[in-house]
Amino acid sequence: MSIKDIVKKLLPDSAVRKITEKRKQAQREEKRRYIEQEAPRFTKEDIVKGLRDLGIAEGDFVFMHASLSRLGRVEGGAEAVLDALLAAVGKTGTLVMPAFCVKRGMLGQVLSGEVFDPEITPSSTGAICEAFRKRPEAFRSIHPTHSLVAIGPLAEELLRDHEKAETAVGRGSPFERIHDRNGWILGLAVLSGTIVLYRTYEDLRDQYPVETYLPDLYEAKYIGSDKQVHTMRMKVHDPDLNQYRLHVRPEAAERFLRLMKARGDIRVGPVGMSDSFLVRTRELFRILDELLDEGITFYVTSTEDDVPDSVKFAPPVKKESSG
Ligand SMILES: CC(C)(COP(=O)(O)OP(=O)(O)OC[C@H]1O[C@@H](n2cnc3c(N)ncnc32)[C@H](O)[C@@H]1OP(=O)(O)O)[C@@H](O)C(=O)NCCC(=O)NCCS
Repeated sequence: MSIKDIVKKLLPDSAVRKITEKRKQAQREEKRRYIEQEAPRFTKEDIVKGLRDLGIAEGDFVFMHASLSRLGRVEGGAEAVLDALLAAVGKTGTLVMPAFCVKRGMLGQVLSGEVFDPEITPSSTGAICEAFRKRPEAFRSIHPTHSLVAIGPLAEELLRDHEKAETAVGRGSPFERIHDRNGWILGLAVLSGTIVLYRTYEDLRDQYPVETYLPDLYEAKYIGSDKQVHTMRMKVHDPDLNQYRLHVRPEAAERFLRLMKARGDIRVGPVGMSDSFLVRTRELFRILDELLDEGITFYVTSTEDDVPDSVKFAPPVKKESSG
């Protein structure tokens, strides 16, 4: 057991929460200071050039995850990045982003009892997605936890009927349609662990070796297109598994990206001050099939901070408290 785990066990939960919040606040302030005073500066035109060099062309369909701060200091902030993305795909292209409401996790969100309203509920997927959600021409899908937002000719066709899908990210959902369209997944200055289509992959592969959902269905409320409140019963991802998953394990995500790059066409190149990646959805799923055939999943078998190369991306052994 690590020293961090021992301290966590000894202190009451409220003290652990306070320490964690203070640490996060200090990190946020340091990041702001760095962006304002030291980070290299970029314009909208620099971002467009980075996107073009990576392979995005006019008319493309792009599903994007992003970090603003990891781009460096962008003149004009999130709005300038959006202008760059929309300029890169042009009027005939379609841009989609997550506008999820998962600040307290999928289970926490559902248990909060909040009513999702596509017109006003804020997203928790970063400043760029939140600015995108607020654009007047943006179309938002209706889902209490995994709503998406899009601008472009394919927006409505892709995002319709989200509330009727079997699962938030799987069969019948906009995520399945995004996969079928074979557009780009762009990771704009983020690590590959953020790719939410990994969840779609888990859902669509019936024999996926990890049971990713809790056994019960949960009720969640939303405002439908008829402006009335509706209730849906939905499957919820098991939060106990998150500690093993790529999206909270940056070092494992980097290693996973290397494994993918060795097997297929994943483009990696600089946009702003960080590397971004670009991959076609079908190519991604082909690579994931290859990896799964080798027993490689999105989960690591260890929860140690430092994951050595020998640690397998294999189904984790769940904590005793889960299930
Ligand atoms: C979580 C995540 C959004 C955090 O990234 P981030 O860069 O720290 O945060 P944002 O993208 O929200 O950008 C806001 C930050 O940009 C920085 N910033 C502000 N103005 C800026 C500017 N002009 N230029 C560059 N950075 C700026 C600030 O540090 C700001 O943080 P603050 O609001 O605390 O001051 C990112 O790591 C991530 O995971 N993105 C993908 C999200 C996603 O798609 N999730 C769904 C699948 S799991």
